[in-house]
Amino acid sequence: PSLDEIINLHDFEAVAKVVLPDKAWAYYSSASDDEITIRENRAAFQRVWFRPRVLRDVSVVDWSTTILGQKSSLPVYISATALGKLGHPDGELNLTRAAAKHNVIQMIPTLASCSFDEILDAAQPGQPLFLQLYVNRDRSITKKYVQHAEKRGVKGLFITVDAPQLGRREKDMRMKFVDDGAGAKVQENMKVKKDEGVARAISSFIDPSLCWDDIPWFRSITKMPIILKGVATPEDALLAYDAGVQGIVLSNHGGRQLDTSRSGLENLIDIVAALKTRGPWPNPKFSVFVDGGVRRASDVLKALALGATAVGIGRGFLYAFCAYGQEGVEKAFRILGDEFEMNMRLLGARTLKELTPDMVDASALHSH
Ligand code: FNR
Repeated sequence: PSLDEIINLHDFEAVAKVVLPDKAWAYYSSASDDEITIRENRAAFQRVWFRPRVLRDVSVVDWSTTILGQKSSLPVYISATALGKLGHPDGELNLTRAAAKHNVIQMIPTLASCSFDEILDAAQPGQPLFLQLYVNRDRSITKKYVQHAEKRGVKGLFITVDAPQLGRREKDMRMKFVDDGAGAKVQENMKVKKDEGVARAISSFIDPSLCWDDIPWFRSITKMPIILKGVATPEDALLAYDAGVQGIVLSNHGGRQLDTSRSGLENLIDIVAALKTRGPWPNPKFSVFVDGGVRRASDVLKALALGATAVGIGRGFLYAFCAYGQEGVEKAFRILGDEFEMNMRLLGARTLKELTPDMVDASALHSH
């Protein structure tokens, strides 16, 4: 289908499934074990119902926001997804260029197919970018990488904490890793095990010894805001808060890590409640992001109403560029913008600040 025929983010997935080589589709679409968590990520949004308010003069609505001090046209950022060139020859640059045009923030993956500097060179001057970090067993490599990113103007460091070992994505494992160059650049000098799928082959440098005691070291090597990506419990949310980081992402890595862990949305209520014991909410010094299964502006509005600062989308934008390159990603941003306009009008919220917990019925979600 032509790009004109695409009317929502789900459509990009259907096209990507058809146009992608089997290996790329397996790597992108797979989740761990029985793929229960990835299904739950979508299902959780369907358990939250709106409580729309009427007669509120919604002639003007505004869904722009600020994420870690950076302006964003959407309350959504592009979450890191590795190996963009498996899906399109321009790889991550599709996202960078589309993000520049629409003032959206991209989180660059450690395992991007394009090099970090290629991505930064493709960005516009002043374009806000975040960096996703897999921590290397050799901390001097990580230190150099982080400090280089900061020097080049990256505005936030998202340390992935839910992947001391990569999950078993069985669809991906069935596709033996044949190196076609797309992943070759990813990390020089790393040992590649070629028989366990793309994901495992590229991840052997990740340090499973990472722990809370390492946080002060990260603080000492960078002034960028530090966000822990992959927190799932109030206990860890409070440890993160008390460790002095600037935020957390409630994420299960798109269902790709611990299967049968709950969705970020489902964990949000208890985590915000726990953080409120440390001070007023929202807290300008501590952000709570959510990702996993977000494909509609209505999904985003539900998370924001329940206290999230902003929301990440991985596959939604990834599939958009697999199918249509940069233009696909731009279209995805426009679709979301249109959805925000309509949904906010129908919900009776003129700004994101007007979204409050009473605008949703989340009683069907798990909560203690
Ligand atoms: C990811 N994600 C991810 N996260 C991370 O911290 N480092 C990474 O390298 C990757 N790589 C990656 C590859 C692919 C193909 C996918 C689909 C996802 C997880 C990602 O940042 C995000 O948490 C999820 O994608 C969110 O779920 P949705 O939006 O894909 O449903």
